[in-house]
Amino acid sequence: MRWSTFLPVGVLVAQGRAIPMLVPPSRELYPNNNNGPDNHYPNQDTSSSSSSSYLLHRAVPTGQVITHCTTPGIVALTFDDGPYIYTSQLLDTLASYSPPIRATFFVNGANWVSGIDDESTPYPSILRRMLSEGHQIASHTWSHLDLTTATTAQRVEQVTKLEDVLQRVVGIKPRYIRPPYATCENGCLEDLEGMGLHVVNFDVDTKDYENDSQAGIQVSVDKFNNELGSNPQTDSAIVLSHDVHRWTVERLVGEMVATLRARGFGTGTVGECLGDPQSGWYA
Ligand SMILES: *[C@@H]1O[C@H](CO)[C@@H](O)[C@H](O)[C@H]1NC(C)=O
Ligand SMILES: [Zn+2]
Repeated sequence: MRWSTFLPVGVLVAQGRAIPMLVPPSRELYPNNNNGPDNHYPNQDTSSSSSSSYLLHRAVPTGQVITHCTTPGIVALTFDDGPYIYTSQLLDTLASYSPPIRATFFVNGANWVSGIDDESTPYPSILRRMLSEGHQIASHTWSHLDLTTATTAQRVEQVTKLEDVLQRVVGIKPRYIRPPYATCENGCLEDLEGMGLHVVNFDVDTKDYENDSQAGIQVSVDKFNNELGSNPQTDSAIVLSHDVHRWTVERLVGEMVATLRARGFGTGTVGECLGDPQSGWYA
């Protein structure tokens, strides 16, 4: 495992990727931010000097699976597998709150729909709307391939094919990825690290795909309410759900936001909840 601060720069430069700018976190952004030397990454090097450890603690790592936010009080709602026919309605819902809720979309290039770059479909403009409304667009691979069983060549293709389309349609290349099926083993982490990617899973799984019906979605509402912490001074979460399911968009999202508000949590993108400025979200 390496920290992005200390990534072999040659690897990144060789691939033409931007080196993330490390800037001090904006504490104003996060009213409950008491983040500091007690950050949540278990394998941090605590022996380094205080000046470098400041960057060390704030830097988002590569080469390991991230499952927790580092900013107490901020919950990152994340939506996988889209875009799809419910995504536009979800964006309307997120925009309807005051302040609007910024979420993270782990998108595929060809999953529930193909041709996310086909301008005769709504999907290119939906992706641009995500960006313009402050959401974070992240990678979920091109075609939802299991990266644990994939070859290195397939992993690279799954990442770069989606990057190329997103670059063309939206003008960005995500630096965050969620591996399909939440699995990235057998050299997968090393391959994604070589591409400069942060690997992000979740610590609250709504399992919204299991009970996608008007009555059934209550199972996911209850699961979220039970698994979310209750103390915004200490707790945070990265929450998995999917914008490809009707009742996620029709009901679960509203219920999650109601719970977050009632318990005093704010919301933010995955990058925000990890203390990464927007300049670090994209290559
Ligand atoms: C929710 O899904 C699980 C897994 O398929 C199933 O066992 C359970 O009965 C479902 N519950 C409801 C209320 O639909
Ligand atoms: Zn998925």
